[in-house]
Amino acid sequence: MSEVTTAADQSGDALENLLTESRQFAPSVEFAANAVIHGGEYAKANADRPAFWGEKSRELLTWSKPFTKTLDWSNPPFATWFEDGEINAAYNALDRHVEAGNGDRVAIYFEGEPGDTRTYTYAQLTEEVKKAANAFEALGLAKGDRVAVYLPMIPEAVITLLACARIGAIHSVVFGGFSADALRSRIDDAEAKLVITADGTFRRGKPSSLKPAVDEALSAPGHSVQHVVVVKRNGQDVNWAEGRDVWWDDTVGQASTEHTAVGHASEHPLFILYTSGTTGKPKGILHTTGGYLTQTAYTHRAVFDLHPETDVFWCTADVGWVTGHSYVTYAPLINGATQVMYEGTPDSPHQGRFWEIVEKYKVSILYTAPTAIRTFMKWGEDIPAKYDLSSIRLLGSVGEPINPEAWMWYRRVIGGDKAPIVDTWWQTETGAIMVAPLPGVTSTKPGSAQVPLPGIAVDVVDELGASVQHGHGGYLVIREPWPAMLRGIWGDNERYKDTYWSRFDGMYFAGDGAKWDEDGDVWLLGRVDDVMNVSGHRLSTTEIESALVSHPSVAEAAVVGAADETTGQAVVAFVILRGSAVEDADIVTTLRNHVGHEIGPIAKPKTILVVPELPKTRSGKIMRRLLKDVAEGRAVGDASTLADNTVMNQIAESLRK
Ligand code: WT7
Repeated sequence: MSEVTTAADQSGDALENLLTESRQFAPSVEFAANAVIHGGEYAKANADRPAFWGEKSRELLTWSKPFTKTLDWSNPPFATWFEDGEINAAYNALDRHVEAGNGDRVAIYFEGEPGDTRTYTYAQLTEEVKKAANAFEALGLAKGDRVAVYLPMIPEAVITLLACARIGAIHSVVFGGFSADALRSRIDDAEAKLVITADGTFRRGKPSSLKPAVDEALSAPGHSVQHVVVVKRNGQDVNWAEGRDVWWDDTVGQASTEHTAVGHASEHPLFILYTSGTTGKPKGILHTTGGYLTQTAYTHRAVFDLHPETDVFWCTADVGWVTGHSYVTYAPLINGATQVMYEGTPDSPHQGRFWEIVEKYKVSILYTAPTAIRTFMKWGEDIPAKYDLSSIRLLGSVGEPINPEAWMWYRRVIGGDKAPIVDTWWQTETGAIMVAPLPGVTSTKPGSAQVPLPGIAVDVVDELGASVQHGHGGYLVIREPWPAMLRGIWGDNERYKDTYWSRFDGMYFAGDGAKWDEDGDVWLLGRVDDVMNVSGHRLSTTEIESALVSHPSVAEAAVVGAADETTGQAVVAFVILRGSAVEDADIVTTLRNHVGHEIGPIAKPKTILVVPELPKTRSGKIMRRLLKDVAEGRAVGDASTLADNTVMNQIAESLRK
């Protein structure tokens, strides 16, 4: 059995010295007594998963036409949930709270990067969404049409997504850090009719532009876009395509505040979100309505112990990622919560910005990523110590495994030695949290995501798909369909089957390594495929390699994710130059910028190493494992399967020079 400690037993440095996997922090008596979810949920869900989710769905959502069926899994891997029901996501996030008399409750406290602020009550946000829905319809948008969204973290992002959902249009958000090329390929793949963007945003006190990338993306003919709606955010000059471009203020700003939400079929597509896979082309992950809303709403209440009347929730994720869809746009509003939305970075104008925001809005639940926590650790605990963080009562982590040191620091320095930490494992594909402690129930352990949520059948299996025993590792799989599961890859059912359902018979393969510990808790061990995780962002090695070889100076390229203290992994590229290209300092800068242009700044390699050869097997497969050894400064492992066993020496030799 593990040693159980409570926060009262220890504090400060004593905790740092006790970093073993076996320590646990039991929920305090007060926390457990006031928690919204109790331990009985697990047994209830196990007894009948679909019935459990059906009950949660009726409890948390308002259906315009009630469903009579829960799950249909007669045609795996294609699931339907609540198939004969009808529901409107925006009505659930907005109108019903106003109708229930909560129109004056704050929905969003917006904090702009330059320090400007806006507050939206539920009544005000409902009006804005109705106006946007009317304006988009007036521009010709109809149910089922796709809308590309390329916006900063401003309230218009949430308003846009909910306006699309309201009329049944399918949003496809493209993160603002992606390039014009990346934007164009996503617009083309989804055949988007409308683009919603802004002139730009602010980054570290300076204007940063977005509209030029949209102009560049649409400069080549043959696209499906009819109109571009532009939010005026940073006031910079923009080029204007007459007839195509319209200002948000001139359309949405002028639209009527009357708009009736009608129910859409439960399986009506809600959104597409592109994510990197193991091959070059990003996958358009498709999510539908009823099941997605059910699981995001349930997990938001259960995992964050949400008390909507009193809590102030802050999820720091950008709307460009799934976390910004599920836990900024949908779940908090569905649950009637008050949340903070912040446009900028943690270090601008100073390294205490996050804590200043926590103090200002009395944030009680903070949800952020390990890479941010490690950065705060590096900056020093005297920075958060300057602020009153006593409002915090729960802390969440997402995006990559959180190392025990960061977990302990987060708990002690930010959580005042008492706030429970919930490490939440999930993916773009899962739509909502899958593995996490229940804060009033589970004794938490630094570094482990711990337990599959009620109603979620996660397992760890070996190469052959057999469950591994406690104390052993393998691959993370999901054995039963879950409500928020992806319904496919946009336009590519075969790829959906191949990618997720072919590795193990009848199971969803997540792409992550994991182990069960002796207590039966799950530990996530990182990706087992060619997907890297840099600051909690998913990047494909193949996609970056393709970008590199698209440059005329590059003959061949291999990319690995090397361990990095702050960002989890960092992109390291090995390139072979073409005969005529000269190796100098400029080529590295040129290639980094080229990747930035092809994919986006987030994909720029941290290090580019010019090498004479790449290690390959006899069948021509690049042995990235060996390159990873080099990139992480280790002795190179077993190289016996190389076609040419002198290659690693040649690489070592060239790097010494
Ligand atoms: C991949 C999914 C879920 C929203 C953000 C990322 C890794 C995510 C954790 C965690 C260990 C984690 C996995 C997963 N991951 N959360 N708590 N512990 N690993 O979404 O871009 O779809 O990436 O992120 O490797 O497969 P995503």
